[in-house]
Amino acid sequence: MKVAVIGSGGREHTIIKKLKESAKIDEIFAIPGNGGMSEATLVPIPVTEIDKICDFAKENKIDYVVVAPDDPLVAGMVDALNGVGIPCFGPNKAAAIIEGSKVFSKNLMKKYGIPTAAYGVYNNIEEALEYVKTAPLPTVIKADGLALGKGVIIAETRKEAEDAIRSIMEDKIFGASGNNIVIEEFLTGPEVSVLAFTDGKTLVPMVSAMDHKRAKDGDMGLNTGGMGTIAPNPYYTLDVAKVCMDEIFIPTIRAMEKEGRTFKGCLFFGLMITENGPKVIEYNCRFGDPETQVVLPLLESDLFEIMLSCTNGTLDKCEVKFKDAAACCVVMASEGYPQKYQSGFPITVDSDIEATVIYAGAKKDSDTVLSAGGRVLGVSAVAPDLKAAIEKAYKETEKVHFENAYKRSDIGARALKALN
Ligand code: AMP
Ligand code: GLY
Repeated sequence: MKVAVIGSGGREHTIIKKLKESAKIDEIFAIPGNGGMSEATLVPIPVTEIDKICDFAKENKIDYVVVAPDDPLVAGMVDALNGVGIPCFGPNKAAAIIEGSKVFSKNLMKKYGIPTAAYGVYNNIEEALEYVKTAPLPTVIKADGLALGKGVIIAETRKEAEDAIRSIMEDKIFGASGNNIVIEEFLTGPEVSVLAFTDGKTLVPMVSAMDHKRAKDGDMGLNTGGMGTIAPNPYYTLDVAKVCMDEIFIPTIRAMEKEGRTFKGCLFFGLMITENGPKVIEYNCRFGDPETQVVLPLLESDLFEIMLSCTNGTLDKCEVKFKDAAACCVVMASEGYPQKYQSGFPITVDSDIEATVIYAGAKKDSDTVLSAGGRVLGVSAVAPDLKAAIEKAYKETEKVHFENAYKRSDIGARALKALN
């Protein structure tokens, strides 16, 4: 079969590597992919060009498409591809709204009693400003729509809250995404990412993960797209997992079904384990990045079979097994990211590397792979336990070379502490 994967980052590279293991797949196209994806044929069409991607898929007789990023899912790429007869992995537009609109997802959780932070929705700037005059601090301000992962502002002071509201609703720094905002209660506790396969009726959680969003060690510095991940997440104990399944995961897919928005694909639960139990911080309608880089390497079963079963509604009959092991992914970024940085440097990898190099911000220039973005690549290692996985990932980063490389030195450190 011919399969296309939409997207260009480390998440997509990981999906491609895993699909490559499936005996059923003959050829993989990455649209647009990146220069480090040697396993795929690159097709240079931007992910938001839905019509062009449909044309390409039809002309090239693509059998199945995995739509990985949020933008095309929320814009309805799955509906468009289904419309030309091509089955997909990923939710349709009606279901992708669970990530596309925070107002929708908060109201869904309220209606169906799914635990989340208390909140209010504002479409009127004066009312929002009035509310934050007396709101408990810190307070959390979220643009309704997609905002390149930057739509959440945690305001420590009233001035910060006011500025955030003005910049989102008045200056429209996130465009129409800021027509409505959610202002919510600030929660505390460890964060856990759980990705789950679902066909709309059955839901199978994957191994839990922990992201590291800040640029610098000790969770300091600016927010980034993710500087590294570990799996499993030690805060996600068996007890917590049971509560999540009964009170969050299953209620969410049942709620979506009741709303006429049956969700098929990968549903990502961003959770906070608070003193009052686990609560939903956010839903994503897709695999997480860089969570995927540690979750899929631990998957033992055939990813393509699982994806097909999510599409066909047969997940209850499909084997989904994870290794009893741990994984760590250390992101190697360009020095300066997430602000100004230089790239365009050749990347070399020693031939004796014992970890997987997952490319993200990379491009190809004849036979050389060059750094071409903030987060250049991830080094992902699997080992019997977390400590060994972290040590291995860090050791193997020494075998990857490019100028201006920067990595955090403490990915997984907090998780290890929690284990001990
Ligand atoms: P998001 O862009 O939705 O992933 O949010 C970014 C980060 O903001 C999350 O990973 C949390 O660390 C933080 N966050 C979001 N909502 C809350 C909240 N209600 N309380 C505390 N932290 C939050
Ligand atoms: N790592 C969080 C996300 O993919 O949005």
